[in-house]
Amino acid sequence: MARLQWSDELSVGVDVIDKQHQRIIEYVNKLHDNVHDRAILKDVLEDTIEYTESHFGFEEEMMAEANYPYLRAHKRIHDLFIRRVARYKERFDAGEDIAEELHDTLVRWLVTHIKSEDANYGPALIKKFGATGKKAKKGFWSRLFGD
Ligand SMILES: [Fe+2]
Repeated sequence: MARLQWSDELSVGVDVIDKQHQRIIEYVNKLHDNVHDRAILKDVLEDTIEYTESHFGFEEEMMAEANYPYLRAHKRIHDLFIRRVARYKERFDAGEDIAEELHDTLVRWLVTHIKSEDANYGPALIKKFGATGKKAKKGFWSRLFGD
């Protein structure tokens, strides 16, 4: 499967979230580019998992602040995905070659998730925080951006 490319179709309408999604795409592409190098893969996998988990937490906080009615269902989808990726990481740690399979799974999952579940919360977040997301509490930002 090819490298994933950002396009406006993936925008949820909130800049801060789009930027995080773009960064996740960069990680996924790094995975794509290094599927045959286990040493690099180890770091890429750890970084991808860590950043994606923080990003999910960020989204969930914003949804909660915006009183988004489908937060619980959305969080359940995030949690299931985290467990699914953790199983890939376990297989990798056990010596299996899972990089390509994981890459394809991530691409499919991310594109579908961003275009459906994430796009659905867009209007609620824009209403609460504006299209940049900068009206969000400062604490929201510091964890991921340090500003
Ligand atoms: Fe999400």
